[in-house]
This record gives sequence, structure tokens and C-alpha cells, in this order.
Amino acid sequence: MGLGVQNMSRTYQTTIPSRSEMHRIIRTAFDRGLTFYDAAEAYGPHEVERILGEGVAPFRNEIVIATKFGWNIDLETGARGPGLNSRPDHVKRVVEGMLKRLRTDRIDLLYQHRVDPQVPIEDVAGAIQDLMTQGKVLHWGLSEMGPQTLRRAHAALPVTAVQNEYSMLWRGPEQDILPLCEELGIGFVPWSPLGVGFLTGAIDENTRFAAGDIRGIETRFSPENLPRNLSLVRLIETWAERKHTTPARIALAWLMAQKPWIVPIPGTTQMAHMLDNIGAADVGFDDGELQELNAALAKVTIQGERLPPAVLAFSGVEAPVK
Ligand SMILES: NC(=O)c1ccc[n+]([C@@H]2O[C@H](COP(=O)([O-])OP(=O)(O)OC[C@H]3O[C@@H](n4cnc5c(N)ncnc54)[C@H](OP(=O)(O)O)[C@@H]3O)[C@@H](O)[C@H]2O)c1
Repeated sequence: MGLGVQNMSRTYQTTIPSRSEMHRIIRTAFDRGLTFYDAAEAYGPHEVERILGEGVAPFRNEIVIATKFGWNIDLETGARGPGLNSRPDHVKRVVEGMLKRLRTDRIDLLYQHRVDPQVPIEDVAGAIQDLMTQGKVLHWGLSEMGPQTLRRAHAALPVTAVQNEYSMLWRGPEQDILPLCEELGIGFVPWSPLGVGFLTGAIDENTRFAAGDIRGIETRFSPENLPRNLSLVRLIETWAERKHTTPARIALAWLMAQKPWIVPIPGTTQMAHMLDNIGAADVGFDDGELQELNAALAKVTIQGERLPPAVLAFSGVEAPVK
């Protein structure tokens, strides 16, 4: 299991966490055996990579750092422009900034955050190949790409991991992306593995979201849909009780039980939550339990969309042909 550090400069609720406490969470996770950290240029932007670089400095050589490029972000100021930018010259300059912020000489796993509809994926692969030749990038991956783009990317330069949303709340990748990863021998990293907090029981029918919290514009959490979708949380809570564990651990252990090459990256800004999540590694399901849980899950229908339309439009995109 990994640790998602996206919210360490600003939480979903729009509060700003204590920097020293974020370092402490990053370091305690390592002390507990966690060695996989997930960041992105876009988080902050830039600031989360700095927090992660500071946090892991004492043990940088013993861990895997994953980060992502692809949004149109000013290289110097971190100001966000509209849309995406995966032009090869830009990607190379983005990586230089990442190395400085992360206080390292190489990025273990570099993802394209979203497919750029202006840039053939073969050109992106070419830029990554050059960065690999220089030793600045060790492995690459894609996030929320169209399936044909994944095939083409893998043919151009072997892909190590795909990062897509996947959880008991959103099971879309089971249709085509997980079978494709299995076929091509690519690892899968589920983002929002706790359903952006929903699967932990931290959200109920009375929850309303702060202005600026993206969950407030996801219709799966609308006041109309929340009460119905909570049947999933009730199911998870029943299993947590039965297995003498917590709902978060059930949600993460279920993901890890799907395939040995699935590695969730729960995100948190709270020490207690990190310790809760990391304990999922000790929760297992035998075949009978998994069948029973999956049968119960199959009866749950989630109402509403996983993302607002303007954000969803960046997912499943196929890169142009070269
Ligand atoms: N590739 C992409 O496009 C993409 C998109 C989104 C996310 N990601 C990556 O995936 C990581 C995780 O995703 P995510 O943060 O969106 O969603 P998540 O891991 O499903 O859930 C995070 C939310 O749950 C809360 N939480 C975490 N552990 C908890 C626990 N044990 N009990 C109660 N609440 C808990 C967190 O709040 P507290 O801080 O209060 O714990 C936070 O609000 C991110 O950090 C990022 O690295 C990637």
C-alpha cells in the first residue's frame, strides 16, 4: 500500500494542514513499513512535492516516489493555466522542477496525469525515454487514459503502472482497464480508494461540503443521492464489525484482494487515519468471504456521477495518432 499526499498543502475541506505534522505522518508511515508515496506537480501546485521532498529526505533512497505531469502549470510560479500540456520540451522542463522540489536526482515513477489531446502518446513516450536515458526517470505510467492510448504507450515504451479511480464506490476499471493491465502486465494504482472518504463512514446523509470542496459538486454526494448511496457504507460497516476491524481497512483490503498487482494509495492529513489505513495490510478475506462480500456489493447501485462533467471530460481520452 502507498500514501497519497495530495491534500498535504490543502485538504478537500479547504483547510491548510500543519506542515510539520505532514512531515511526521510521512515519516511515521515509513517507520511502519510504507515505502510508496504519491504526489503530483498539480498538487499545490508544486507545494505538495516540496512537502514530500522535505518529509522523505532522511530515507529517500529507501522509498519509491511517484509524481505526475500533464496539466498546464507555470514552471516558475506554479500558476495554473487552462487545460493540459504534455509537449515533450515542456515535460522535460517540468521534471527539472520536480527534482528540485522533491530534493532528489530521479523520479522512481512518473505518470502522465491526463492525456493531452494535442500530443501523440508516442511523443510523450519519447520524452520519457530521453529522461530515462539521463537517469532522471526510472519508470512511467498513465492516469485515466483511454485504453487504446495505454496500448500505444506500452508499445512505445513499457508502462509500469496505471493510476485510475477505483474503489467499492467506483468500479469502472473492472470493465476494460483492469483486464488490459492484466493482459499487458501493468500494475494498477487505485486513486481515491476510500471513495474520497465516503467509505470510511466519515460522511452521512446530513453532510454538506465547503465551497471549494470538489465532493460538493459530485452528484454521488448530492443531498438526494447521499441517503441512497449510504447503503454501501452500511454494508462495509457490517463487515468491519464481523472482521473486528475498521471500515477504511475493509475498503482497502477489498481492493488489495482483487489482484496482487493492485496497490491503493489512500490519502490523509491525519496521523490516526494513516495508522488506520496502513493496518489494512493485515486484513484478508478467504475465498468464501470474498464471494459473499462481492455478492452483496453486486446488489448495491450507486446513484450519481463520480466527478463533475467538466472534470470527467479529461478521463478516457485517446491521444491523437502520430
Ligand atoms: N491520478 C489522479 O487523477 C488522482 C486523483 C485524485 C487522487 N489521486 C491520488 O490518490 C490519493 C488518494 O485519493 P483521495 O485523497 O482523493 O481519496 P481517498 O484516499 O479515497 O480519501 C481521502 C479522504 O478520506 C479521508 N480519510 C482518509 N483516511 C481516513 C480514515 N481512515 N478514516 C476517515 N477518513 C479518512 C481524508 O481526510 P483526512 O485528511 O482528514 O484523513 C480525505 O478526505 C491522493 O492523495 C492522490 O495522491 C490521484
